[in-house]
Amino acid sequence: MRLPEHVTVCEVGTRDGFQIEPEFIPTEQKVEVVDLLTDAGVPRIEVTSFVSPKAVPQLRDAEAVMAGIRRRPGTRYAALVPNDKGAARAADAGVDVIHTVVSASESHNLANVNMTIAESIAKLRAVGQIAGRAGVAMNCGISTSFGCPFEGDVPVAHLETVVARLVDLGARGIGLADTTGMANPRQVTEVLERLMPRFPGIEWTLHTHDTRAMAIPNILAAMECGVTNFDASIGGLGGCPFAPGASGNVCTEDLVHCLGAMRVATGIDLTKLIAVAKRVQHIIGRPLPGQVMKAGPSTRRYAPPDSVSAKLSGATRA
Ligand code: COA
Ligand code: ZN
Repeated sequence: MRLPEHVTVCEVGTRDGFQIEPEFIPTEQKVEVVDLLTDAGVPRIEVTSFVSPKAVPQLRDAEAVMAGIRRRPGTRYAALVPNDKGAARAADAGVDVIHTVVSASESHNLANVNMTIAESIAKLRAVGQIAGRAGVAMNCGISTSFGCPFEGDVPVAHLETVVARLVDLGARGIGLADTTGMANPRQVTEVLERLMPRFPGIEWTLHTHDTRAMAIPNILAAMECGVTNFDASIGGLGGCPFAPGASGNVCTEDLVHCLGAMRVATGIDLTKLIAVAKRVQHIIGRPLPGQVMKAGPSTRRYAPPDSVSAKLSGATRA
């Protein structure tokens, strides 16, 4: 396999994960989770979103969360923004990076942000100007890049048009999001092999959901294409409230474990990360999909049963 030496993981659990939780998570617990992720060495964290509190009531405390977190130098703290109002709030709250959102399919964009794609792009132009004035970086994510729960297939030519518009309004980073886990590794390869050469200098991120157990295979395919930025969610939390059938992102600790086993560095402390996942599971109050927090890392060893030990020591003596 052609694997990179280092991969950058962006934790999105406190945004993509928490946003779908119906019970309000107290602000101090959100802050606690971000601080624990920082302490585990996660280099990028999408802390929250600056969206309409009517659309996503769970994240109505975005300013308070940003003000409450402990910021480690070198860690990049981002927030999701759909429009100019969100950009102004995010810049005032001191985010390092604005993550914008638009979909590759009209129906999902209307369901998610109540705008056509063209209307969203016009808003994102204003977002780019606000970010530029505030000296805040901007990364543009594209929902339903690999398929839409309403429309089905999203033609790659159409996706390419959306990428081109975002690059035109100043995006230096593009995130391709598989919002409802419809992508497969072959498709990921085909899309990346087409888009990457056409937009040189763009930093690509893959945002996966594990709805159909294809998230890690899709990430492997993207790594082989040269992508080194991946979004993930602690414990496998998550789902889009505006996309039917959506479920959690690729689980951060499962991904970090997989990368570590392949000697791909992330700079993240897996033991601490597993402890964060367990804490988040406790806060949410139900089992989360993450597997490594249940099984332990593959370096975990068990004492063999007594009968096996007895035979082993007999074999050693003989
Ligand atoms: N932050 C806070 N409030 C906002 C806002 C923002 N970024 N953008 C708009 N609003 C407010 C407006 O001020 C207005 O408030 P009022 O009713 O008190 O006057 C209200 O929301 C409606 O504004 P409008 O511009 O008409 O928006 P809308 O109702 O068409 O909703 C969005 C559009 C984009 C604001 C809304 O759909 C949204 O926030 N979506 C986010 C979805 C999301 O987070 N999805 C997550 C998966 S990617
Ligand atoms: Zn998502």
